[in-house]
Amino acid sequence: MEERLQKLIAQAGLASRRQAEKWIEEGKILLNGRPAKLGERADLTIDQIQVNGQMLTSVQEKVTVLLNKPRGYVSTLKDPDGRRLVTDLLVDIPQRLFPVGRLDYNTEGLLLLTNDGELAQQVSHPRHHVDKTYLVKSRGSLSVKMAKRFEQGLVLDDGKTAPAKIENIRTTGSSCWFELTIHEGRNRQVRRMCEAVGLTVVRLKRIRLGFLDLKDVATGHYRRLSDSEIVKLRNFK
Ligand code: URA
Repeated sequence: MEERLQKLIAQAGLASRRQAEKWIEEGKILLNGRPAKLGERADLTIDQIQVNGQMLTSVQEKVTVLLNKPRGYVSTLKDPDGRRLVTDLLVDIPQRLFPVGRLDYNTEGLLLLTNDGELAQQVSHPRHHVDKTYLVKSRGSLSVKMAKRFEQGLVLDDGKTAPAKIENIRTTGSSCWFELTIHEGRNRQVRRMCEAVGLTVVRLKRIRLGFLDLKDVATGHYRRLSDSEIVKLRNFK
């Protein structure tokens, strides 16, 4: 059956669909020996697809891991400034995994990495409203008024945020810890939301993603997701 090239590449676990589209635009995908164009379809039983020089044949083993990202790592596959990559932490995984969404260089916590493009799409698609909970340490305390603004949604330069949930507020000396749950995944969203209400973030850690948490995974370590966790992630609607 014919499918779009980016879908076939994602299904083979080589990249997310978006990354595959970029590769097509960059001329890195050959379809039957000539550079493919975005929008083209192919049938793997008839057509030959080459991805960065590698022939797309059979489906690779799908692997998804949950990493407890430390500060000081980028969650991209390359960094022009030579900073450490989250994938440097994956020591015994032969498959090439890519991060599902991003955590900033100085954000810690739960990050999924996978070679399953369909799964990545399922988890990160805004339509699926997967809750993400962040533990925030701020300078200065979170007032009732600030919490209300988070809960009602506040205006950022890319539009109004959906209502967030605030829990477990603890004030210690000049700082405050609280948990913020959102389901959107805009760039630097938590930091920008805090800035908008006048809070400076000194530490940020993602502690939950949907039903997943960091239990038994120390900072800098990771574990493979079980088959039943994968099934649950696939069923996010
Ligand atoms: N929000 C942020 O501001 N940074 C992250 O890394 C994740 C969410």
